[in-house]
Amino acid sequence: MSLSPSLGSPHPWLRELKSEERGLYLIHLLLTCANHVAACNLENANATLEQISMLASPDGDTMQRIAAYFTEALADRILQTWPGLHKALNSTRMVMVSEEILVQKLFFELFPFLKIVFVLTNQAIIEAMEGEKMICEPAQWIALLQVLSARPEGPPHLRITGVHRKKEVLDTIAHRLIEEAEKLDIPFQFNPVVSKLENLDFDKLRVKTGEALAISSTLQLHALLAFDDETMKKKSPLLLKSSNGVHLQRFKPMNQSTLGDLLEKDMVNGYTRSPDSTSLSPASLNSSTSMNMESFLNGLWCLSPKVMVVTEQDSNHNGSTLMDRLLEALYSYAALFDCLESTVSRTSLERLRVEKMLFGEEIKNIIACEGYERKERHEKLDKWFMRFDLAGFGNVPLSYFGMLQARRFMQGYGCEGYRMKEENGCVVICWQDRSLFSVSAWRSRK
Ligand SMILES: *[C@@H]1O[C@H](CO)[C@@H](O)[C@H](O)[C@H]1NC(C)=O
Ligand SMILES: *[C@@H]1O[C@H](CO)[C@@H](O)[C@H](O)[C@H]1NC(C)=O
Ligand SMILES: *[C@@H]1O[C@H](CO)[C@@H](O)[C@H](O)[C@H]1NC(C)=O
Ligand SMILES: *[C@@H]1O[C@H](CO)[C@@H](O)[C@H](O)[C@H]1NC(C)=O
Repeated sequence: MSLSPSLGSPHPWLRELKSEERGLYLIHLLLTCANHVAACNLENANATLEQISMLASPDGDTMQRIAAYFTEALADRILQTWPGLHKALNSTRMVMVSEEILVQKLFFELFPFLKIVFVLTNQAIIEAMEGEKMICEPAQWIALLQVLSARPEGPPHLRITGVHRKKEVLDTIAHRLIEEAEKLDIPFQFNPVVSKLENLDFDKLRVKTGEALAISSTLQLHALLAFDDETMKKKSPLLLKSSNGVHLQRFKPMNQSTLGDLLEKDMVNGYTRSPDSTSLSPASLNSSTSMNMESFLNGLWCLSPKVMVVTEQDSNHNGSTLMDRLLEALYSYAALFDCLESTVSRTSLERLRVEKMLFGEEIKNIIACEGYERKERHEKLDKWFMRFDLAGFGNVPLSYFGMLQARRFMQGYGCEGYRMKEENGCVVICWQDRSLFSVSAWRSRK
């Protein structure tokens, strides 16, 4: 089989390819297409997209699904050079808050990642708060309330501040936490702060002297990197997502042949990262009150948290060229889609929702956006390490006990593709050999 039929000639044989051959061919086409998009060669990009569309499918196998989202992202990137068309196509799109809450809930339920993160985060917070009578501001949740209520010295006075751009999300969290605290009879206050991270006013966190502060940030900080080239103004925050109780599920062990293997093969076929000459108009900046990463971390440092637990996507999606980002994103999203392929049926509506509304949107942002609009700037743990270190934070190694609990949880999950490894006192959660999320804990160095 030739992997390069002349562009634009649909061959009936394309439809008869077996899954693995089709996967390889799709990768080949995606890389070809990305090269055309990067070189602003619309005609060729159009022809390649047409070919991909005959093979990709949002409800097919992993690679067909991935290809569907990457082509959408590549097409979106092209369209951004015609802002009128782009806006018109987007003009009736609405993101409903209820959908956003739903998709976060599905991400929590369909993957073990956040559950493991919460085990590690809560354990780090509890250890840092040992013996404290007053605690304010840990960002989590019901499991934490439960453990605190069982402390031998009795529950502390607890204030949780949640920062989110949508009031409805905070209302949902508040409702659940207040209900739980009443049940457990813990003195508790919820302080909702409706704000984007980059505009957060640190005073609104109402941290009082003498209070012990724990900060938890889950999959949020990277968005601030978008402001790095820009203004340095106020200071600010952190935050978290709501958890919805732990749902354990058992899954069959999965097939080990991974998309990474496929990608690897195609790399050998001679695709290298090429410089990318497209320059898209950076979105006009509206950041007069936005902070960049440095001022934000500085603001956190000044609050002297007893502990700050940070979870981030452990990927390198902040490369400067389209090709760099496309390749890295193919690897990591292939791994995430593979998790679902191994554990959830292809026809599951929940799976489709998470793939489209969460991963599809992230992929689009990584591939199609530039400048201030490119928020999904996931970076690897070593970069975060350097960044926190420079900002005056010292690493707090996650405890043996926390890791043991997380490992036990993962084993109980019953799906052996998920792994966890320790890296310099931090934890990296993987699918097979691919790192996907990092969890690290920090404290202000004096
Ligand atoms: C786009 O590609 C399709 C399929 O190859 C082709 O029929 C069509 O003429 C192309 N459009 C343009 C504007 O090049
Ligand atoms: C597209 O629509 C969404 C939802 O309304 C909005 O958040 C986004 O900024 C729009 N994108 C563009 C480029 O207009
Ligand atoms: C995975 O699937 C492929 C073909 O679908 C099969 O050849 C291989 O043996 C499977 N691997 C495992 C570990 O089951
Ligand atoms: C990540 O994004 C920031 C902000 O634009 C930039 O300064 C930095 O160089 C980027 N990192 C890489 C590896 O490109």
